[in-house]
Formats: sequence, structure tokens, C-alpha cells
Amino acid sequence: MRTQVGIIGAGPAGLLLAQLLAVRGIDSVVLENRSRDYVQARIRAGILEQGTVDVLTGAGVGERLHREGLRHDGIYLQYPGHRQHLDFPGLCGRSVWAYGQTEVVKDLIGARLAAGQQIEFEISGTALHDLETDRPRVTYADSAGVQQVLECDVVAGCDGFHGPSRPMLPAALQQTWVRDYPFAWLGILADVAPSTDELIYAWHPDGFALHSMRSPSVSRLYLQVDPDERLESWSDDRIWSELQHRMAFEGWQLQTGPITDRSITPMRSFVSAPMRHGRLFLAGDAAHIVPPTGAKGLNLAVADVTVLCEALTELLAHGRAGLADTYSGTALRRVWRATHFSWWMTSMLHASGDDFEAQLQLSQLRYVTSSPSAAQSLAENYTGLPLR
Ligand code: APR
Ligand code: PHB
Repeated sequence: MRTQVGIIGAGPAGLLLAQLLAVRGIDSVVLENRSRDYVQARIRAGILEQGTVDVLTGAGVGERLHREGLRHDGIYLQYPGHRQHLDFPGLCGRSVWAYGQTEVVKDLIGARLAAGQQIEFEISGTALHDLETDRPRVTYADSAGVQQVLECDVVAGCDGFHGPSRPMLPAALQQTWVRDYPFAWLGILADVAPSTDELIYAWHPDGFALHSMRSPSVSRLYLQVDPDERLESWSDDRIWSELQHRMAFEGWQLQTGPITDRSITPMRSFVSAPMRHGRLFLAGDAAHIVPPTGAKGLNLAVADVTVLCEALTELLAHGRAGLADTYSGTALRRVWRATHFSWWMTSMLHASGDDFEAQLQLSQLRYVTSSPSAAQSLAENYTGLPLR
């Protein structure tokens, strides 16, 4: 098999890259080791920056997003006794949208298959070869177990944190930065109307809590827990009463309902550079991980592939390598901004057990909720800085 861009991974990064390239007439094949059902059922984050919505709309996959997505013009920041709304349009002229990553993935898979383009699900043994030549190859076994060779002009490593692409960078050329946080998030999806119109980020001495949503009838909520916490220790009653306790606010009641999904996710910051080696380009979680506190993971993946698509179009359609050569630097500047922002949000909101730190956090929360310039800085980072 031969294609222009061999894309490894059918997460948001790989699927959107394929869609953006198709719009520009560039051929690609998407290779995914999981099944379509698995990929479409994975529950992930759910806040889209304005720029992300614009990119999805421009790529022709914004129709359901505009119909079902919920525009949010701000967030609530809370600490005991105080709940303050930050008005994003007033602070920075932009908004965000609540629309699940799962739905973005469904829309992208639907669009690609409807256009008769290829996604190979349930492959195994993915291996990358000849990345330092202009004829790189990907070998794998297809879903029937038949060995395949995909010859490409370029390989896009969109295979997430555990995928085979990033390890192909020669160790001597690679630099990585890691921060493991001493927290995890216990996340639930529940069939109950959200008890709030916009997200509530709540600081509490017993740990952070977040009220998010997926639709007018589905709530998404999170509790800070220890990274070694076991899901079995959390009955439905315990989850709901801890959420109510940490998010308590006079005159406000958290509505409960059947829990349909639950998981515990550790929190980590990770950056790997460069994001390109020869004819291999990395995008999304393959190159970087952010903690979920600023909702940046999906948005960064979208930003990466937007920049990458332009670079590959220049390279493959016009033979100009300039943007391919600057891809890594351009993408990493945004990655580090989001890495800082999500680290900052995480540090401001999670209980560490240290009383000095707790006082600093409360001081910072009072500042962000009272100073327009501090609030503006949060708002422009949360809604997403311009791509370039
Ligand atoms: N061969 C083929 N596909 C692979 C392989 C492999 N060896 N290894 C991993 N994959 C697939 C995974 O199954 C997954 O579907 O690559 C895909 C990577 O997708 P994501 O993990 O969703 O990563 P990305 O597309 O970069 O999206 C980033 O997803 O994890 C969230 O918080 C993150 O919101 C962010 C977004
Ligand atoms: C989510 O809805 O899953 C979500 C929202 C905001 C965050 C993180 C996750 O900061």
C-alpha cells in the first residue's frame, strides 16, 4: 500500500489531521490498534477552545458540534464561602464549548468513512522504518492478521503517550521533561441534568472538585483523590456526598443520578522535544501530556495538527520544506504555554496537605476572582491563545 501521509493513531490528533489533509487533497491512511467501538466509547475531556471549534468547523465536522455543543461564556471559581463567575467574553472576547472528545472522535470517524477514506482498525505490531529517508514505511498486521507494508512520504505519529512513534527518536537527539503530581482525578459520568449552567472549579481543604457536563441531561464530575486510590473504595453514595461536601455553597444543591462511567486518572505533565525527526512528525499526546485541570489536552492536539497540516501541505503539494522545518518549534511554543497554564491551574486548586501552600492558593484565588487583569490572564489562556 502507498499513501502520502501514514497516520498512526485514530485519536483526535490522527483523525483530525487526516480530515484537514483530505480537505487539501492530500491522501492519508489512518492506522489504529483498537476497534472502532473502543475508540468511540472512550470517555475523555470535554471543553473545546474557540479556536478548536473554528478548526473543526473549517474542516467540515462542526455540524453536530454547533447543534449539540453548549457554549460557555465563563467558569465559576470557588473556595469555601465564595463562588465567583469569570465572564470570558467580557475579559478576552472569546468563549469555550462543552462537547465531549468522544463526540469529536465519532464525528471525525463518521466524516472520514462517509467520504470513502480509509481507517484500518484493530491492527497490531505497528513498526516504523526508514524515517531518515524520503520513503518511510510502516509495517503492521491488519485485523485479519495479514502482514502489511504502508509506504509513505511522511509518517505522522499521533499514537498517544504509549504509542511506538516517540521512541523512534534517537535518544541522543531527544529531550524530555516530566512532572508527576501527587494527585489523581476520580471522574464520573452521570445521567442527571447539570446542577450548574457553567463549570465549577472548587478549591476545598479536603481536595479539589469539578462540576462539568456533556449535555443538558448528562453531568461530568471529578474529585481529587490520591494516585493509589482504588475505584472499589468509592461507592456511589460516597462519591456524591464527597462532591456535595467539597462543592457546598449556600443555597445551592448538587443533583445526583445514576453513574454510567467512572475512572481514576493520574496527573502528569510531560513534554518531549523535538516533535520531528526526519520524515516522522509527532502530534498530540505522543509528544506531550498535560494534567486535565485546564482542559488543554484535546485543544493542544488540535493546535498541533492544524500547524502540521499546513507544513505537510507545503512539503507534499509544493515541495517547500520551510514550515516542516519550523513545525516542532512552533508547536512547542504553544505546548509550553499550555503546560504552564495547566500546571498553574493544578497548583492553585489541589490540596497538598501543606497549610502554607493552602494559604497561598486562597490568596491566589482571591486575586484571580477580584483583579480584572489576573482574571483576564486566566480567561485568555483558558479560551486559548491564537495559533501563532
Ligand atoms: N498502533 C496504532 N495505533 C496506536 C498504537 C499503535 N501501536 N498505539 C496507540 N495507538 C492509538 C491509540 O489506541 C489511540 O486511539 O493512538 C491513538 C492515540 O489517541 P489519543 O490517546 O486520544 O491521543 P491524541 O489523538 O493525541 O489526543 C489527545 O486525547 O488522551 C487525550 O487528554 C488527551 O485530550 C487529549 C487527547
Ligand atoms: C471535562 O468535562 O471532562 C473537563 C472539563 C474541564 C476540565 C477538565 C475536564 O478542566
